[in-house]
Amino acid sequence: MFDFFKVQKVSHESTKVALAKDFENIPAISVYFKNSTGIDFEDQKIIFKSKVTSFCRTHKISSFATCLQHIQSDKILHQELTDYLTTNESYFDRELHQIEELTQKIKSSSKNVKILCAPSAHGEEPYSIVIALLSAGVQESRFHVTGIDISLNAIRSAQKAIYNEKAVRNLSQDIRKRYFTKKEDKYHLNQEVKDKVTFMCINIFESEFQKLQKFDYIFSRNMLIYFDTKTRLKAQSLFKSHLVDENEEIYYGHADLTHLHH
Ligand SMILES: C[S@@+](CC[C@H](N)C(=O)[O-])C[C@H]1O[C@@H](n2cnc3c(N)ncnc32)[C@H](O)[C@@H]1O
Repeated sequence: MFDFFKVQKVSHESTKVALAKDFENIPAISVYFKNSTGIDFEDQKIIFKSKVTSFCRTHKISSFATCLQHIQSDKILHQELTDYLTTNESYFDRELHQIEELTQKIKSSSKNVKILCAPSAHGEEPYSIVIALLSAGVQESRFHVTGIDISLNAIRSAQKAIYNEKAVRNLSQDIRKRYFTKKEDKYHLNQEVKDKVTFMCINIFESEFQKLQKFDYIFSRNMLIYFDTKTRLKAQSLFKSHLVDENEEIYYGHADLTHLHH
């Protein structure tokens, strides 16, 4: 990892020490990152430092202070760091019971519904909802899903909708045959399912999120776990204000619920 410093190695010992020091003051970046994304690396300081160091090396940035300046002024670099630091792990039919519950609710009413998945990662969750609704015979004109995520990489990959075996491991052979086309070892989601989801790269703490319409149902699974208590409460209240009916239950992940304060 520290090969990077060798590139800058200079003959003078005192200058070498000064360069190493440039990669010591990580808290400023972690505070800035937490304030802008909500993601808290307090319990993973070593991982955070090592990842930011490797990010600096890739981008030929010579110190954490310079890195902070760059990410504050350069939106593209800020996005690249966000993409690099977020964990976008997901898979189809994760915590399926909630998707089944939603399907029953929608099936038993005649209302048209709008559903939000925040965060959507690579699309597995919103697409699982679409597949469940179509498989249950809900007319495709009755629903639409919006998937948002702070990671642009994840959003781009969601729009492509090409998955490996690991992502579809919970899906039956029937579902795979019906909704995917297999090419070599990849599963390409069919257009019929893709058309039912709109993806947007949005940070829930920024004004773009406020501007979104209200939704009948909201899924927010496995994101709050990355936030501290204060930020979780803020996110919960943002989601509540985006419900058509404020009394409707928001679908949080099992792991989120163990952290939530009601
Ligand atoms: C582990 S994934 C969860 C995906 C899916 N909901 C699931 O449960 O499988 C967490 C996602 O939260 C996203 N995320 C983190 N902070 C965010 C924020 N402030 N706004 C929007 N998305 C965020 C990350 O980019 C990441 O893709």
